[in-house]
Amino acid sequence: MSGGTLIVGASQAGLQLAVSLRQLGDTEPITLVGEEVHPPYQRPPLSKEFLTGETDLEALALRDPSFYADAAIGLVSGERVTEVALSPSGPPGSGTAATAGGRSFAFDRLALTVGAGPRRLTVPGAGLDGIRYLRDHDDATALRQRLGCASRVVVVGGGFIGLEAAAVARALGKDVTVVEAADRLISRAVAPVVSEFYRRAHLRRGTRVLLSAAVAGFDGAHGRVTTVELADGTTLPADLVLVGVGVLPRTELAELLGLECDHGIVVDGRARTSNPHIVAAGDCTVQPHPLTGLGRVRLESVQNAVAQATAAAASLLGRPAPQSAVPWFWSHQGDLKLQIAGLSGGYDQHVVRGEPDSERFSVLYYRQDELLAIDAVNSPADYMAVRRALAQGATFPASAAADRGIPLKTLLATTRPAAVPSS
Ligand code: APR
Repeated sequence: MSGGTLIVGASQAGLQLAVSLRQLGDTEPITLVGEEVHPPYQRPPLSKEFLTGETDLEALALRDPSFYADAAIGLVSGERVTEVALSPSGPPGSGTAATAGGRSFAFDRLALTVGAGPRRLTVPGAGLDGIRYLRDHDDATALRQRLGCASRVVVVGGGFIGLEAAAVARALGKDVTVVEAADRLISRAVAPVVSEFYRRAHLRRGTRVLLSAAVAGFDGAHGRVTTVELADGTTLPADLVLVGVGVLPRTELAELLGLECDHGIVVDGRARTSNPHIVAAGDCTVQPHPLTGLGRVRLESVQNAVAQATAAAASLLGRPAPQSAVPWFWSHQGDLKLQIAGLSGGYDQHVVRGEPDSERFSVLYYRQDELLAIDAVNSPADYMAVRRALAQGATFPASAAADRGIPLKTLLATTRPAAVPSS
């Protein structure tokens, strides 16, 4: 390849970036290089419908195979970029990259959409067969096969991946235990009332949930895991272990380029790295809060991948930034459909609408009376009302929001100007 844009990472963000460049009228070459052998696909179903067997890789493809040639996007699959350098004498932002497989690419513009990898356990026995992680299609395929013949499943990590997979395993009739290190489930993302709801809901479905439980190691026979050992001496028999203890953003290439990293590649509200000629988007980045512009957040979501990639394309072409978007996210754990709009970090008050044990309720988060976010469980109308309100800079008075008899949309009150384009 000579010149044009090189996008490293054939992820949802990477593909969106390529598509946005074309939509903005870019006619220069675009090369999208990915380590996985599969063309870009949707990842969220891997821990849900894909694991249950309801869907397959073909249905998860983000575009038809013919799309890439039609849009003149050079898709290079199965190649991991390991070297990248800017040209000392060429135009700013131009340089070369090389893959582990020996291919090299010259670029005029560079985008990093390299995502994140699962955090691995390093306790004794962690390398035994039957201990699995879930991040990409091949992980999910292997896990699905193993689930078919497993009977005792231990899930390490009670975050989104762990609980979604636990729900699938339990629905398949497996004996399931979730081992969570913190004193509540999904503590990174939701309030204690929502954590407790999930603990009880999984328990009702027959899944054991152990909190404040540390995995000390694994034992096995003939190289295969048979037992999970906890720090308090408890032993859990297991023929399959799924570990979902968070992700680590891939920052190696950014570090090679001398870009600022802080538990992710640091970007601004327009997806520009500390070298403004290089952009980054998706799970590999940390960015200013998309609505307030304050602090740094790492958002692991499809919505963020798409929004940031769209902004990155505009930045590469010197176009105005798109309007900043309200973050949203979802997690389906069997029949429990969680939808999140906004970011609840820093809340000082929350209002629970409805009875959690009814399995239809929502929690609205506020800071100094300003609406920040909602977690809605099987409550799509509440979710939509809050998502719209956040986009409009509107709120719902906390004092009235608890009454589930009153539709939220009838309580709408304007408080601040609508979301402004990011600077
Ligand atoms: N033992 C048990 N639990 C642990 C350990 C450990 N050694 N280390 C961390 N945990 C727990 C954390 O306390 C947390 O509850 O694992 C959970 C990890 O949850 P998340 O951070 O949500 O990460 P994960 O579930 O792996 O999901 C990774 O993929 O699909 C996306 O939305 C998902 O962004 C999320 C990402």
